[in-house]
Amino acid sequence: MEELLQQIEQYKQEIAATTAANAEELETFRIKYLGTKGIVKAVMGEMKNVPGDQRKEFGQVLNAFKIFAEEKFATLKDSIAAGAQATGSSIDWSLPGSTIPVGTRHPLSIVRNQIVSIFKRIGFAVAEGPEIEDDWHNFTALNLPENHPARDMQDTFYVNQSPDYLLRTHTSSVQARVMEKQKPPIRIICPGRVYRNETISARAHCFFHQVEGLYVDDNVSFADLKQALYFFVQEMFGKDVKVRFRPSYFPFTEPSAEMDISCSVCAGEGCSLCKHTGWVEILGCGMVHPKLLENFGIDSNKYTGYAFGMGVERICQLKYKVNDLRLYSQNDVRFLRQFTSAL
Ligand code: DAH
Repeated sequence: MEELLQQIEQYKQEIAATTAANAEELETFRIKYLGTKGIVKAVMGEMKNVPGDQRKEFGQVLNAFKIFAEEKFATLKDSIAAGAQATGSSIDWSLPGSTIPVGTRHPLSIVRNQIVSIFKRIGFAVAEGPEIEDDWHNFTALNLPENHPARDMQDTFYVNQSPDYLLRTHTSSVQARVMEKQKPPIRIICPGRVYRNETISARAHCFFHQVEGLYVDDNVSFADLKQALYFFVQEMFGKDVKVRFRPSYFPFTEPSAEMDISCSVCAGEGCSLCKHTGWVEILGCGMVHPKLLENFGIDSNKYTGYAFGMGVERICQLKYKVNDLRLYSQNDVRFLRQFTSAL
């Protein structure tokens, strides 16, 4: 009998040390100890071999063993149920999930896309050109020969290795590239980044963005130019905005003009953006200089054209009241997160 008692003691130790991480392990425990062919049953079966005078005492030991195994089973079962709850087998699917932050488009991209989409609707196609440009496409072909004083207006970044290469100072260079390859009718807009050697401040930056426009065909007139730009302004800023044209000078257009719109920030009342004039300049434009057409073998007696160039930052500033150019390139998510758009 000593042996049996020792055996029971050993089983108890095993049972005490048993853990069950899931329902399968719990079931394994149940089968091993409490099943019909399990250890508890087997030990109970030993009763018949116990001498009569020791039965009472033995019966108590065996009973205690059975209860010990059953209690352990109950404890394991409870702890698995509690663990399942904690790890979510009873998930509340109606609770809101944790949100994943999604990116937003950069305000300049939103405005550029809007400009492009407006001009596409009136038949303009998008053309692009390189940001590292040669002197010919950026200056000479556009009627800005070497030593032309207007070159000084655009503080140019030259490529160290060669004075012939530079970072384009305007997207007008794409006009040259398109006229070089394509014959009229030409109706394109060229969005892109441009560079000028300016000290960075709230009002100036060493790179910014422009959208250039060019339309060359039979009988293109200044009235067509005004019509297209007026349509653009109304689509971009709404029906109430006013426009005005002032005579200006650009080497690549003749006559040339600058276009102002009534200040959309103060509605023409006067504010710091419009310097209390009620008007803000948004673009330069004019009729393509005949010399440009001739530079590209386009007959200037047969064809005429108009061109314009606008700054994306300025349009964005008017639309969203952004008062410091540096914000566009600082990548502060608190700034960037404020802009959303379908485009
Ligand atoms: N390229 C000029 C600038 O950067 C803008 C411009 C003015 C473009 C008149 C044009 C134009 O096409 O006709 O300031």
